[in-house]
Amino acid sequence: MSKTFYVTTPIYYVNDVPHIGHAYTTIAADVIARFKRLQGNKVFFLTGTDEHGQKIERTAESNGEKPIELADRVVKRFQNLSDALNITNDDFIRTTEERHRISVEEIFRRVEKAGDIYLSEYEGWYDVRNEAFITETQLEEIMDLPEEKRPIIEKVKEESYFFRLSKYQEPLLEYYKDHPDFVSPSYRLNEVVKFVEGGLRDLSISRTTFTWGIAVPGNPKHVIYVWFDALTNYLTGVGFPDNEKMLNANWPADVHLVGKDILRFHAVYWPAFLMSAGILLPKKVFAHGWWTVEGEKMSKSVGNVVDPYQVVEEFGADVFRYFLMREIPFGQDGDFSKNSIIARVNGELANGLGNLVSRTLGMIEKYFDGKVPEPGELKDEDESVRTKALSSVELVEKEMDEMAFHKALVSLWDFIGDVNKYVDESAPWILAKEKNEERLGTVLWTIVQAIGVVTILIYPFMPESAEKIWERLGSSQPLNSKLLSDAKEWGIVKSGQTVEKGQSLFPRFENK
Ligand code: MSP
Repeated sequence: MSKTFYVTTPIYYVNDVPHIGHAYTTIAADVIARFKRLQGNKVFFLTGTDEHGQKIERTAESNGEKPIELADRVVKRFQNLSDALNITNDDFIRTTEERHRISVEEIFRRVEKAGDIYLSEYEGWYDVRNEAFITETQLEEIMDLPEEKRPIIEKVKEESYFFRLSKYQEPLLEYYKDHPDFVSPSYRLNEVVKFVEGGLRDLSISRTTFTWGIAVPGNPKHVIYVWFDALTNYLTGVGFPDNEKMLNANWPADVHLVGKDILRFHAVYWPAFLMSAGILLPKKVFAHGWWTVEGEKMSKSVGNVVDPYQVVEEFGADVFRYFLMREIPFGQDGDFSKNSIIARVNGELANGLGNLVSRTLGMIEKYFDGKVPEPGELKDEDESVRTKALSSVELVEKEMDEMAFHKALVSLWDFIGDVNKYVDESAPWILAKEKNEERLGTVLWTIVQAIGVVTILIYPFMPESAEKIWERLGSSQPLNSKLLSDAKEWGIVKSGQTVEKGQSLFPRFENK
């Protein structure tokens, strides 16, 4: 069986309800998954929740509920978010599932068998919020921060199993050298390399002071470290350890999407665990940036946490998706603000795309009774729209391969701009006045082909709007049966199809 394109999001902690950060990675993964399908690939797309660990145990305790009750309650918010955002994940993994326990135990055993686990004592600092052991260097950095910015850390002294991370310092550095694309963007790889070159100490991978987690095989006094547990989800989701067929069809993952704050876990610890267990490494870890909100860091105490459900309610899922993908280069930080959303809706969606579709379909209704006309002889300017369409498809493909979503959208909107210009220059309304029906038909036919191409290309970003436009174009085949190769064929919208102008696709918003 041919290998799928396997894309993952981080699995989200259930101590908190979904916010824009969660929505962002999940939407980006969905855009990739949809685009890969459009290119004709089989795709496996996994997301889920990270439900174990001290932080969740404590949150549950302070709510007066059991950890599993907390998880069962909050997980629904994450699962429903997939629907609200039109996410096409193939599976949703919860780390409290039986299949995951089996998988984590198996990885633990394999790493143990490789001689990479030993029992000792951990004495040092622990950051419960980030579920992270703090090294000496990190402790110094923390102490340099102003008090209000310091993470809450606790002194821990307990018996612990250790993973021989130090043994993997050289193999990891070698691996980064041989696979410069393993971590993207490239400036993030430099950070990772620097961190590893700074020296890797063995990593504590079990705890004894709480119980909410997966027990160490053979020593149930110990709970496996939540990151060891969580990272393994990427294997569990594709059938590890028993479903070899599924595993071979999907593993190694093509890309793990993560926020920059959790890159170290994915680009250092995870590959080291996998090397030890004798399992192939994922092909790429992509670290994206963080969103501030109206210029401020998002935090519960400031009370500015963006609820993705509210954004969907106010602007719709497509606008939200478009904004997140268009506003900033994937990898860099950005700011989320209502005015920026509104500016993009009014300028790019309503004026650019919406206007093109509605005036074109309006003219077909008016001049051709709603039926897509037959083209006559094509002139240079008509051929030039076709050439631009083709080169836009190729450009978008290249930019999507590089996960430069914003560039792909810029290229697409450049094309939309070109088409709008072609409409103005060809002035179909004048051709209609002159009763030049053949030329009028050719021009409208050309524009409608361009709209067909745009519809296919925006589908991964704005699935609802693309479906709507496709429906108005009157095709008898569903949009999801179309591939990118179809967009390269000029003539995807057939003469004789009945179009419908319909209501405005992207209503304008007033600035707030
Ligand atoms: N459970 C771990 C991940 C385990 S993966 C094996 C975790 N969960 S989390 O819920 O805290 O965070 C999930 C993601 O949200 C991270 O990738 C993080 O970078 C991202 N974000 C949290 N706040 C964010 C912003 N303000 N902006 C963008 N992404 C942000 O970490």
